[in-house]
Amino acid sequence: MEETFDVKLVENEKYYSPPAGYREEAWTKDYETAYADFLKDPDGFWERVAKELDWFRLWDKVKEWNYPYAKWFVNAKLNITHNCLDRHVKSDRKNKVALMWKAETGEERMYTYWRLYRDVMRFANGLKKLGLKKGDRVCIYMPLVPEQIIAMLACARIGVVHSVVFGGFGANALNMRINDAQAKVVITADYTIRRGKNIPLKTIVEEAVVGSPSIEKIVVLSRKSETPVDLMKEIEVDFYGIMEGVDSYCAPEEMDAEDPLFILYTSGSTGTPKGIVHTCGGYMVGTYYTTKHVFDLKDKDRFWCTADTGWITGHSYVVYGPLAVGATVFMGEVVPDYPDPGCFWKLVEDYGITIFYTAPTAIRMFMKLGEEWPKKYDLSSLRILGSVGEPLNPEAFEWYYKNIGASRCPVVDTWWQTETGMHMITTMIGEKMRPGFAGKAVPGVKVDVVDKDGKPVPIGTGGLLVIQEPWPSMLRTVYGNDARYRQYWETVEGNYSAGDLAVKGKDGYIMVIGRSDDIIIVSGHNIGTAEVESALVSHQAVAEAAVIGKPDDMKGNSIKAFVILRVGNTPSEKLTSDLIYHVRMTLGPIAIPSEIEFVDKLPKTRSGKIMRRVLKAREMGLDPGDISTLEE
Ligand code: PRX
Repeated sequence: MEETFDVKLVENEKYYSPPAGYREEAWTKDYETAYADFLKDPDGFWERVAKELDWFRLWDKVKEWNYPYAKWFVNAKLNITHNCLDRHVKSDRKNKVALMWKAETGEERMYTYWRLYRDVMRFANGLKKLGLKKGDRVCIYMPLVPEQIIAMLACARIGVVHSVVFGGFGANALNMRINDAQAKVVITADYTIRRGKNIPLKTIVEEAVVGSPSIEKIVVLSRKSETPVDLMKEIEVDFYGIMEGVDSYCAPEEMDAEDPLFILYTSGSTGTPKGIVHTCGGYMVGTYYTTKHVFDLKDKDRFWCTADTGWITGHSYVVYGPLAVGATVFMGEVVPDYPDPGCFWKLVEDYGITIFYTAPTAIRMFMKLGEEWPKKYDLSSLRILGSVGEPLNPEAFEWYYKNIGASRCPVVDTWWQTETGMHMITTMIGEKMRPGFAGKAVPGVKVDVVDKDGKPVPIGTGGLLVIQEPWPSMLRTVYGNDARYRQYWETVEGNYSAGDLAVKGKDGYIMVIGRSDDIIIVSGHNIGTAEVESALVSHQAVAEAAVIGKPDDMKGNSIKAFVILRVGNTPSEKLTSDLIYHVRMTLGPIAIPSEIEFVDKLPKTRSGKIMRRVLKAREMGLDPGDISTLEE
């Protein structure tokens, strides 16, 4: 770890009072009382939440904690899709809109709960026809279309573990994820649409599965196009084709609370991504509770989380949490500045969005584009704004609060991770907001900022962000690498280490500063330095590479790579663009370095470890700190 603890906090005294009326109407009316209730009886707190949902069999025990392994809702049986679909279909929500979808092409679709329920069951029966059964793994590599959600829910319906891979990843990244999970089926589409262009997905899948012997079938969604895709009969089947001739009812598989629901890969400090495993019961309870209480989601709301379903934010707050609550979800296959920088605000107006959840990188982009864009539209339907993915800096908070929320919508800056599955820190609706500070632990979880020995740091100093007790939607393991799971709980004995640096301010508000490890957050996406380095080194001209994150006004961080060339190669613009292309093809466009510098030497410790900290300090004109381990 390359952590720096020397953060000194200059407290700003700025607080924003919650707008009138919110607190009285909120699901959590008073943070302090809710938190005290939780502390008095943690298991009782979560049991009350869980009882709001349907279970086929109730638990014998709420929690079993055998450090560092937790079981939640021991021996309970459920199916998450029963709670996301059947529960509503049997109620007044049957005809309620579950999903509203709009693409940048103007295409639009609506699904009621009834319709979604039917499509999920038919697709689930289609998957069964392919031979899939409980416990098998399926990789979903799709655009942000309703079929992606149908595919996820259909897997969950029959107990198949899905591993969704973001459509912006390249063939090599996809191949690694398919192989690690030993997926039997990939579900994909012919292409995704972005900024007016069709970007092929199926061809990337074709390349990715060459070295994936576990794959038996590829399910292809053929999007409306003049040239429908050709399917290779031996291995490829049509998305809607497999739904033909099947039963319209598919009984939900009875899942144990601790059975895996999905695997989601996240960057680690090695070149191999970590398959974070989430389970059925605890994940359902955690995402249901936070969707309801953190976003204060009510039946009348229209909720738009702009994240792609390929990330945890999409899993928890486009799909499982909102559907478990019975919300109306908006989903857009759109980017914030195409065809013009007002397109998000037009969608807010057109769909009457009430809760809007996005990332700081998007907010900073909107700031740059100017107030005139949101001003063109009627945003008065909005009542709550949210942020996730990286620190929401005070300037961006103020801009968002004033220009999008018209100084009358609470902003919830939510801190959490792929590993946590649900929101962990935020400022609950009705509490005073502090720009720059995410807030406090959500009732139901215990967090702190500690030094290396696990001692709480004094107010105003930096330290490691830790979670002190297990929580229902915590990761249960890293797929195929349980030792890596244990590391989360071993870095700071007895605590879960988030890998983030944070500062505790006055009144217990927590400011998250950034990562303490070799992960760079670029536009809210986690990129491991090691992943980019190994992609670079796999190019025939590269001998060694080191990658750092450089602060960037828009993206939060940008990637800079230092490269040592193999003998016989010389730096050139052509080589730079070759390397960028190579990273793009291997990892995908999200991992492209914005700068490549050719060097003769890299700073290393005597044991040969590259000191990225030194490179970063030099790059930024800062003191590199302790360099006593640096080799001559
Ligand atoms: O560094 C923190 C940052 O994103 C990391 C988790 O990334 P990922 O697993 O991809 O999940 C992103 C969406 C939950 C964290 O370790 N992060 C996330 N939210 C915030 C944040 N940093 C500061 N403030 C946040 N609200």
